[in-house]
Amino acid sequence: MASKSDVKVAVVTGANKGIGLEIVKSLCRHFGQDGVVYLTARNEGRGLAAVEVLRKEGLNPRFHILDVTDQSSIDTLRDHLEKEHGGIDILINNAGIGTSHNLPLYEKSLPVVKTNFFAVLAVCRSLMPLVRQSGRIVNIASTTGYIAFREQLDEDLKNRFRQVKDEEDLVALMNEYLQSCKEGTIEKNRWPDKAYGIAKLGVIVWTKIQAKRLSEQEMTRGIHVNACCPGFVSTDLTAHLPANHYGGTKITTVEGVDTPVFLALLPPGADGPNGEFLLRRKSYDFLHTDVTIDICE
Ligand SMILES: NC(=O)c1ccc[n+]([C@@H]2O[C@H](COP(=O)([O-])OP(=O)(O)OC[C@H]3O[C@@H](n4cnc5c(N)ncnc54)[C@H](OP(=O)(O)O)[C@@H]3O)[C@@H](O)[C@H]2O)c1
Repeated sequence: MASKSDVKVAVVTGANKGIGLEIVKSLCRHFGQDGVVYLTARNEGRGLAAVEVLRKEGLNPRFHILDVTDQSSIDTLRDHLEKEHGGIDILINNAGIGTSHNLPLYEKSLPVVKTNFFAVLAVCRSLMPLVRQSGRIVNIASTTGYIAFREQLDEDLKNRFRQVKDEEDLVALMNEYLQSCKEGTIEKNRWPDKAYGIAKLGVIVWTKIQAKRLSEQEMTRGIHVNACCPGFVSTDLTAHLPANHYGGTKITTVEGVDTPVFLALLPPGADGPNGEFLLRRKSYDFLHTDVTIDICE
């Protein structure tokens, strides 16, 4: 009989639609009977409806509710996964929101930074201890993090992001951004009005910190954690943007999940990538080199 750890367990956050749903599809097809793929969603109705759609396509994901901004929801999922499977092999932090531009600065920035940055940390803090040897963690970031860093921060703020030592340091920097939004002092403090890009930049920096931390411990050395951009993908998140917003055309969700799924399925013993930011399967260390990323290549 297969032991609990023979069956691969994958968890995808924010998976009732868009890129998350497509990642679930792809992982279900990859694993077939040899894996359990959790389609998680903050809304039970929307999550179960998505599961039903996939069942009609012959796929068999499991559903669990998860609001990534709610610690008790995260803990409930963790307890369930521990009890059912003992551990997990793949965690894809995909859940994310765009900016409601009609709101005042702090009101629009806070939920974006909370969901797109702080929730990634909270989910990982809770689920990371369950990740098995050779586990893969994929954080869906964005090239907007690169744009924020390269085009919207001055040299002083760039250096502060480059020199972040640990999670505590990074959290303090992200809170400083939110505090400036709250006080209306972003211009004075030279921050951009770009919560989405700043949150995604935070995820990219945090990914590096996590990879380093995991590689320093014998028990977690085989776990790889990477951040990536799926590309400019046609989903509800980008529906308000013109197709040529970045000078290129929107790609499909099938095309968009190529890099996230590639990272999720890195084989055991792979040398890397680890702690990196990828677009179209290629790593870019834009924090420490002056590499240019061609977003619409
Ligand atoms: N589309 C692009 O071009 C693009 C480019 C770069 C990066 N990304 C990133 O890719 C990820 C997926 O985006 P998408 O384009 O697929 O957008 P989407 O179609 O709007 O899907 C976003 C998903 O996240 C979920 N979500 C939002 N807040 C949540 C919360 N608190 N707890 C749990 N789930 C939550 C949404 O659930 P509800 O249905 O309940 O709202 C939805 O399932 C995001 O992190 C986004 O920033 C997208």
